[in-house]
Amino acid sequence: MLKIEKVSKTFNKETANEFQLFNDLKFTIEKGDFITVVGSNGAGKSSMLNLISGSIPIDKGKILLNEIDITEFPEHKRAKFIGRVFQDPSKGTSPSMNILENLSLAYNKGKAFGLTLGVNKKNIEFFKEQLNMLNLGLEDKIYTKVGLLSGGQRQALSLLMATMITPEILLLDEHTAALDPTTSENIMYLTNKIVKEKHITALMITHNLNQAIQFGNRLIMMHEGNIVLDLKAKDKKSMTKADLIEHFNNICNKGELGDRVMFA
Ligand SMILES: Nc1ncnc2c1ncn2[C@@H]1O[C@H](COP(=O)(O)OP(=O)(O)OP(=O)(O)O)[C@@H](O)[C@H]1O
Ligand SMILES: [Mg+2]
Repeated sequence: MLKIEKVSKTFNKETANEFQLFNDLKFTIEKGDFITVVGSNGAGKSSMLNLISGSIPIDKGKILLNEIDITEFPEHKRAKFIGRVFQDPSKGTSPSMNILENLSLAYNKGKAFGLTLGVNKKNIEFFKEQLNMLNLGLEDKIYTKVGLLSGGQRQALSLLMATMITPEILLLDEHTAALDPTTSENIMYLTNKIVKEKHITALMITHNLNQAIQFGNRLIMMHEGNIVLDLKAKDKKSMTKADLIEHFNNICNKGELGDRVMFA
């Protein structure tokens, strides 16, 4: 359903810092795929998500969504059908607005009318039901400013906001990395639950190999702007963390340093 066709991207063209990250990158995501993405720092994981979301323009190639060429669509237009959650919990929500207002914004995403229309009685009930799903008691805090919530609570809210209007594709960029281990597990559990219940197609970057193996139906490894490993359901299931590190060392030829830098 999403196709990256021969995409090339060079940063800082014609300067001393010129750097080609992608050269004819090809990648196809099937509808309903939940793909975990691993790879070393600077491998191009976030950049691949950025080129899907339109945060970085590409030099060459095409991006097709459901066979529609979205290559020229600006980021804000793609945001109507792409959900994103970042590593930084402060990125997905607006701190000076309360939970209800944040949810209204997300709910009205892509609609022509503004914030106030979203906050009526019927919607409040709907938002409370949605918050209830998170099991964090946030439904009793709808008038609390989001800036006062913990990182985990904000990340759960970001996740809810990114998926409330079911996106065509959900992009998760190390969205549990800034959280303590228990909260990270909880957010991962919620992510899996939401992705499965809503049949969302998702790409999730993680440095946590256990997470990468445990969740999703497909696993890709990136290195120097290339997809160097693409494991489908059956092969992924039989993978262990040690296998994956070995793959990484073989493919990337990095020796011991690689896994220490890379993987939790
Ligand atoms: N806007 C940009 N301008 C210049 N270089 C960039 C830009 N965005 C990314 N890069 C470069 O592209 C390479 C890949 O970066 P990217 O952020 O995609 O890596 P990553 O795989 O997400 O790494 P990490 O695990 O550290 O998050 C890096 O060398 C980075 O410096
Ligand atoms: Mg990154």
